[in-house]
Amino acid sequence: MAKTKTAFFCQNCGTQYAKWVGQCSACKEWNTVVEEVIQKEEKTSWKANTTTVSKIAKPLRVNEISTNKELRLNTFDLEFNRVLGGGLVPGALVLLGGEPGVGKSTLLLQIALKLPYRTLYVSGEESQKQIKMRADRIHPNSETCFILTETKTQNIFRQIEATEPDIVVIDSIQTLHSDYIESAAGSISQVRECTAELIKFAKETNTPVILIGHITKDGSIAGPKILEHMVDTVLQFEGDRNYVYRILRALKNRFGSTAELGIYEMQGGGLRQVNNPSEILISKNDEGLSGTAIASTVEGMRPLMIEIQALVSTAVYGTPQRSTTGYNAKRLNMLLAVLEKRAGFKLGAKDVFLNITGGISVDDPAIDLAVIAAILSSNEDIPIEKGVCFAAEVGLAGEIRPVQRVNQRISEAEKLGFTSIYVSKNNKITLKNTKIEIHLVSKIEDMVSALFG
Ligand code: TYD
Ligand code: MG
Repeated sequence: MAKTKTAFFCQNCGTQYAKWVGQCSACKEWNTVVEEVIQKEEKTSWKANTTTVSKIAKPLRVNEISTNKELRLNTFDLEFNRVLGGGLVPGALVLLGGEPGVGKSTLLLQIALKLPYRTLYVSGEESQKQIKMRADRIHPNSETCFILTETKTQNIFRQIEATEPDIVVIDSIQTLHSDYIESAAGSISQVRECTAELIKFAKETNTPVILIGHITKDGSIAGPKILEHMVDTVLQFEGDRNYVYRILRALKNRFGSTAELGIYEMQGGGLRQVNNPSEILISKNDEGLSGTAIASTVEGMRPLMIEIQALVSTAVYGTPQRSTTGYNAKRLNMLLAVLEKRAGFKLGAKDVFLNITGGISVDDPAIDLAVIAAILSSNEDIPIEKGVCFAAEVGLAGEIRPVQRVNQRISEAEKLGFTSIYVSKNNKITLKNTKIEIHLVSKIEDMVSALFG
């Protein structure tokens, strides 16, 4: 009998060792190296128990390679299509990661149910009955979606051959296990082997496969980093569980840009696509409240109006508190230092809290000016007039800097009924016939005198 081959793997980063070590030399984590069986028998193909001689690939001239005319499968979900770069590419492997309970299973089940193609939804986490209950709430009477509860890859492939689906969804990659590997489901070598088998299947049959991946405490996808390298597209589903909005973004995409963003709202009957996010992210308060400002930001290619709230109060304890939700705390500290040094506002002994409403997080520097406006509005206790919004970056010298896509930001603000917008003097504005009043400012003082008199 052949000797079983084993090796040691770091469960954190996937580095392989010949013998056990206490600390992984690659990621410096302690006690993460575990022995795993790497190969039990010779394997030949993803197909169950069949020995196929794999075709030998030949190099081809690039203009000789034939492609199908219809390159992308429409998923009938505008947000999902947009994030993928226009639909699913045949044979692509897509990995969807996200915190537990954020709605990964809901999103993919919903897409599988609504598609007019044959879809196979394989779950290793829930039983067919549980999935059926959920499916009835989301989209009853789907005739093209098949549900399978199975965790063994060889059995899954057997069922795939029987049902011949156009799209396969696997919930989740960490629950799968392959017969060729002996270690437990979810371990590094299992995850890697199962993904490799699925990739082989996807590429040989041109069937797109969507995998759900769990993420670890620090937010990276559980399993080796190598998993992210193996697949074609890595999507992340994020959102605060206490809010209803969910954001889908691409972290890696071999077939499209990673700048696109999809927004959903979690409802009783599944996830609703949010086509006009600006309207929901801005509260419709009519009485002027101090400390709120609206920023015109661009997420991917999409302009988005967001509301920023600040609270500035005298610090009760010795060290003032600085706290942010949805915004980089270091950036806030920098802006406070700029306000102190360049514009003469004494905020050193004040607590400052900053919040981007709706539970979303934004790192577009163009919201700087709105952040400053919200802070000053709260500090002075003077509300910012209704219909005013901002789109500019603030530099360390207190200068107001131009931002990209300023015309798009202005148009979005105008479309949503804003009456004036503050942008940098150095931005080139090519818009004509705008009804919105455009204030060109170059220093913080210009904005302060215009806003607070
Ligand atoms: P789920 O898709 O199971 O999350 P994940 O697979 O990412 O762990 O979603 C779980 C949450 O979604 C759960 O807390 C309930 C909520 N939910 C709704 O609000 N409406 C629905 O129609 C469904 C199916 C789920
Ligand atoms: Mg799930």
